[in-house]
Amino acid sequence: MNTFDTVNDSRRSIRSFATTPVPASLIDDILNDALKSPSSSNTQPFKVIVATGEVCQNIGQQLSRKFQQSLIMKKQPAPLKLYSAYKHNMFINKKYPSILGKYPQPFQERRINTGVGLYELLGIERHDHQARDDFMAKNFKFFDAPAAIWIFVDPGMTFTALVDAGIFMQTLMLSATSKGLGTCAQGSLGIWREPLDQYFDIPEKYELLCGLSLGYPTDDPVNSYIPPKIDLEELLIKAKG
Ligand SMILES: Cc1cc2nc3c(=O)[nH]c(=O)nc-3n(C[C@H](O)[C@H](O)[C@H](O)COP(=O)(O)O)c2cc1C
Repeated sequence: MNTFDTVNDSRRSIRSFATTPVPASLIDDILNDALKSPSSSNTQPFKVIVATGEVCQNIGQQLSRKFQQSLIMKKQPAPLKLYSAYKHNMFINKKYPSILGKYPQPFQERRINTGVGLYELLGIERHDHQARDDFMAKNFKFFDAPAAIWIFVDPGMTFTALVDAGIFMQTLMLSATSKGLGTCAQGSLGIWREPLDQYFDIPEKYELLCGLSLGYPTDDPVNSYIPPKIDLEELLIKAKG
């Protein structure tokens, strides 16, 4: 296999990391690779935060507290929910929010199939909400990764900002894989921005899009999960006639 195939075939979402720190120079190399990505008119409408060490841990703790609070709030009546939202600063990313509730079809079905496969591998029963919440909670501690990255874009660049950021992230993830590291792109890390504002001077017009955990994968079985992908038949739009 050529180098591209080796790297592309071995990239997968990593959800268990060793706590071994990633050298700062290696993170710089990965970011420099990602900066070689194409972007619309070469506008490169993104900025990133890299958190490591104590800052990363502190942000992880704050995000984890917010996630636990969100579980409490799920069961609260509306007026109390609003009170809790103010009290715990739970307001979510308004510009690029995650879809709450069901996705449109066929995406909901693909999402469920992916989740079912992952939970089966982990031995989590479909209706074991506690176990599912416990696994979800790991997102906010970056699955123990020693580094986390957040991608911000300038919404003034409308849809191209999102396309460009996606390409940037994929280059970043392939670069990391090629260097023996693992990544997990995480929409969940884009829900709450407040802890990031505490530690970083984020330029005013940039909006949080997505986060990503970065570190050395462990040999935990969760990292062996390869979810089903659609095939060419499903991908290709057929010619008329
Ligand atoms: C934009 C984006 C957001 C994602 N958010 C999460 C997330 O919050 N938590 C998670 O565990 N995985 C997340 N993932 C990983 C996807 O679940 C994963 O890419 C998909 O299941 C395909 O698996 P693969 O990456 O191993 O090929 C996200 C991926 C992308 C591209």
